[in-house]
Amino acid sequence: MLSTLIAKTFWLPEQASTFAKSHDALFYFIYWTMVIFFVAIVGTMIYFAVKYKKRSDDDRTSPLEGNTKLELAWSILPSFLLIVMFAWGFKGYMSMLIPPANATDVHVTGYKWGWNFTYHTGDVGNNELIVPLGQPIRLIMSSEQTSPDDMAVLHSFYVPAFRIKRDVLPYRYTVLWFEATELGSFDIFCTEYCGTGHSNMIGKVIVVPPEDWEAAISSGRDFVDDGSMGTLAEFGEMTFGRAGCPACHSVEGQRLTGPALNGVFGREEAIEGGAPVMVDEDYLRESIMEPQAKIVNGYPRTMPTYAGQLSPDQIMGLVEYIKTLQ
Ligand code: CUA
Repeated sequence: MLSTLIAKTFWLPEQASTFAKSHDALFYFIYWTMVIFFVAIVGTMIYFAVKYKKRSDDDRTSPLEGNTKLELAWSILPSFLLIVMFAWGFKGYMSMLIPPANATDVHVTGYKWGWNFTYHTGDVGNNELIVPLGQPIRLIMSSEQTSPDDMAVLHSFYVPAFRIKRDVLPYRYTVLWFEATELGSFDIFCTEYCGTGHSNMIGKVIVVPPEDWEAAISSGRDFVDDGSMGTLAEFGEMTFGRAGCPACHSVEGQRLTGPALNGVFGREEAIEGGAPVMVDEDYLRESIMEPQAKIVNGYPRTMPTYAGQLSPDQIMGLVEYIKTLQ
């Protein structure tokens, strides 16, 4: 905790994830570069203003000519600094974009106005995300309607101490990952104006020791959807049967009306009349809600939409169930 207090500065909050140090280093590199240039340029300007002040009406400006070497130097040299900033920022951006393969998935649902966190165990936390220390966590995020006659809106999930932020959108999943490096409690903010309750859309990330994690997420919390016990994937398997999916989709490799679903997650599929897609959570969600959007080559366009028929929890469950099918 002491180290986090020390890292907290006038500009930036405490550093509590693996991203924080490299993020802050780039921030301060840009910051000090700007300070040096500001002082040099404004200092020179003030010095010249004083030195070459017009002292009497007889003062005449001496003839001015450009200095090509000087102009090239002050154009080209600073552009190298811009390239350094871009390359450094791009590298950091890519590492934030691509989660490690061993990350644990947690579903995040933004609603008006709060956050639900659904764990692989099926437990649901409200406005409190509990994560283990020192393990990568991948957030699969979407925005849902509060009631059927209400519109889902844009939110943005932001944890300043982790230096992570990403928009949370209706009708699609966006992904964000982090690895916490400090035990404790850290703020979650919504940073996309989403209506009157926007400023109340505040939560906490609680970082616990890894050995306490499973107990912490299951202690007296809500359970997914209708309260049936079982993991999120088990709930998905139940939904798979109830929604009639097995009529067209095998989970053991046989070709029925639709593609077999085992081994499909993480695979690249050829799409009729479009670019190939990598099967991820968002593609699975889209294929349930809007089946005609991307048809795998060689299959009929017969699947009906399940939009409005499955709850967000049921879709999450189906996605997690399909991920377990090998
Ligand atoms: Cu949700 Cu602002």
